Amino acid sequence: MSSIKVGLLGLGVVGGGTWKVLTQNAEEIARRAGRSIEVTAVAVRDVAKAKRLVGDSVRVTDDAMQVLRDPDIDIIVELIGGDTLARTWIMEAIAQGKHVVTANKALLAKHGNEIFAAAHAKGVMVTFEAAVAGGIPIVKAIREGLTANRIQWLAGIINGTTNFILSEMRMRGLSFEQALADAQRLGYAETDPTFDIEGVDAAHKLTLLASLAFGIPVQFDKAHIEGISTLAQDDITHAERLGYRIKLLGITRRREDGIELRVHPTLVPVDCLLANVEGAMNAVLVSGDMVGPTLYYGQGAGELPTASAVVADLVDVARLEAADPEHRVPHLAFQPDAMQDTVV
Ligand code: HSE
Repeated sequence: MSSIKVGLLGLGVVGGGTWKVLTQNAEEIARRAGRSIEVTAVAVRDVAKAKRLVGDSVRVTDDAMQVLRDPDIDIIVELIGGDTLARTWIMEAIAQGKHVVTANKALLAKHGNEIFAAAHAKGVMVTFEAAVAGGIPIVKAIREGLTANRIQWLAGIINGTTNFILSEMRMRGLSFEQALADAQRLGYAETDPTFDIEGVDAAHKLTLLASLAFGIPVQFDKAHIEGISTLAQDDITHAERLGYRIKLLGITRRREDGIELRVHPTLVPVDCLLANVEGAMNAVLVSGDMVGPTLYYGQGAGELPTASAVVADLVDVARLEAADPEHRVPHLAFQPDAMQDTVV
């Protein structure tokens, strides 16, 4: 079978990681996907720099439209971030009948309804495993592993930067500012770190998880959001004395009157699993009516963990492409005709 062709938009930390994963594990990936996955074009701002990583066998251009309109490309991987250019390019990819793999939580949390509806109409996939909790396959866990369940609630640490800051403040006595500077140096934080510390990044991710778990449209604007920027060392010490750790949790649950969606610092008893998740690690608890509570833990950010999730999506799309077109069920966060539930 011929290879499935990929156009990469962006070759930063996650884009570079994606290239490395596809190259280093090419054989295993091809075996699992049923055919090889080949990056044939890359669109970047700095062509010379990108060529140093991918060499001459791949077309490198600063004209993304060339990649988006290339009839030989099956999948576009969007890794540029932001919600303006990325939105235009993803909509163009869908219009061109291409599947889209993205790590762009901010874009999907705000414009996911429009994007998923366009994908649904065109019969293509928009997948986003890398957008939530980095390397943890939480999207696939909800979409596939727990698919027989009615999800009751979900709670998790889904922002590595804030968890790192809270851990450093508690364990090393660092100030909030020192710990944030370390998180930025280690590459965990968003370009605008207020997204991390004010809970916005966690709310983006929670919005997507709620959409998947409950089959509802994305409703980021209805989320209750509080960050950790007002927490002081004293809060952490007092909490510890009372037997609690402060964690920034994203919580969503089904209620009689709708879906709850909230991100805020939470007092978690020290003997709970979530209280013991330290550093930039992420962990998500999901409870289904058949399976009961389940826990997912791993690296929520970083080059290779996030790239691992991007490549998992590429394999998913390759498998779907191999299915008989009559029986393909493209994965969407929600079905556009099942939009009755709202966030309260
Ligand atoms: N800034 C994000 C975090 C990166 O700290 O979790 C991964 O989404």
